[in-house]
Amino acid sequence: MTGWRGLIAEYAQWFDLRGVSDFVTLQEGNTPLLYAERLSERLSAEVWLKYEGLNPSGSFKDRGMTVAITKAKALGAQTVICGSTGNTSAAAAAYAARADMGCVVLVPDGKIALGKLAQAIVYGATVLQIRGNFDQALNLARELTQHLPMTIVNSINPDRIEGQKTGAFEIVDVLGRAPDILSIPVGNAGNITAYWRGFTEYHLAQRCASLPKMWGFQAEGAAPIVLGRPIENPETIATAIRIGNPASWISALEVVHESLGDIRAVSDDEILDAYRFLARYESVFCEPASAASVAGLLKYGVPDGATVVCVLTGNGLKDPDTALQMSSAPHVVDASLAALLGELG
Ligand code: F0G
Repeated sequence: MTGWRGLIAEYAQWFDLRGVSDFVTLQEGNTPLLYAERLSERLSAEVWLKYEGLNPSGSFKDRGMTVAITKAKALGAQTVICGSTGNTSAAAAAYAARADMGCVVLVPDGKIALGKLAQAIVYGATVLQIRGNFDQALNLARELTQHLPMTIVNSINPDRIEGQKTGAFEIVDVLGRAPDILSIPVGNAGNITAYWRGFTEYHLAQRCASLPKMWGFQAEGAAPIVLGRPIENPETIATAIRIGNPASWISALEVVHESLGDIRAVSDDEILDAYRFLARYESVFCEPASAASVAGLLKYGVPDGATVVCVLTGNGLKDPDTALQMSSAPHVVDASLAALLGELG
C-alpha cells in the first residue's frame, strides 16, 4: 500500500506494540504545517501553524485515540468511556465505531460546542450531559470504570499521550529541526506533555539537535496552572479548555521546567482577536481554544527571528455558535439584480 497509512503504521518503531495485531486507524496525522506569513511579519519571527483541525474527527485527539483504542481492542475491551469538553468525545466515538466497540461519553451540559456534540451522537456513542463541569465529568468517568467493565480513554490513559507525541515527530520531519518555541493551548495538560515527549525522544535518537522551549497558554478564567491552584468554576469562551483542575498538572510543570518554557494566561478577548486574525489573514479556521496559542504570542511577543510552531488543536467548524455570535449577520436581500447593486454598487 502506498501513501500515508496512519500514525501507528508510520511511526511503529516509536510505540510498544506488543500484543497488537490490528491497528484501529482513520489515517490520522500527517497534518499540514503551514507557514504563517502575516503572523511572521507581525512578530518578526518565523511562525508555522500545525493545523490539527484537519485530522479525521477534526482535532488532535485522533492521534491519541488511534493508539488508545488499538490497545484497548487488543486487550479485549468492549466499551470505552471518557469525560470531555467535546473533542475527546468526538474522537473516542469515531474510533470506537471503527473498532466496533461501545463508547460512553460524559460532557458538561450546555458547555460543549455544537459540532462536537453532533459528532459524538452521529458516530453512535452513548452521550450523557452531566449537570457539572469537565473536572466532574472526568472524575465520574474514572469512578465508573471501578464499577463497569469500561476502559478510560482520557489522556490519563498513557496510550493517548503516546499517540499524541507524533505531532512533534511530524514537525521535526517537516522542518528538519525542532522549532525554538512550541506554542500550545493547555487544558488538561495532556498535549503539552505529549509534544515534549515527542521532541525529547527524537532528540535522544538524534533526529533533532535541539529542543524547543514549550510555551503553554490557558484561558484567563480557566488558568489553574498559572494561578497555582485549582479553579472550582472555570469560565471561558474557549470551552475546549474550560478546565479547573488538569489531570496532567504535575507533568506540565515538569515540561516547563525541563524546556525552560512557561505557561501563561490569555483573555477571552485576546483569544477571539487571534481567532479572527488566523481566519482573516492566514485562512485557517480553528476553534477558539486553538487560537490561545497564537493569542499568547501576540500578547507576550517572541525573540526576533525565532522559529515558532503554534499547535492549532481543533477545527473551527466544530463551534459554529461562537463563529456566528462574534460576527455581524449577513444581510438578507431580494433576489434581484437591482437589490444586489443597491448593496454592492
Ligand atoms: N485544544 C482543544 C481544541 C481541545 O479540545 C483541548 C482539550 C485542548 C486544546 C487542550 O489539550 O487537555 O491536552 O491540554 N480537550 C479535551 C476534550 C479536554 O475533552 O476534548 P489538553
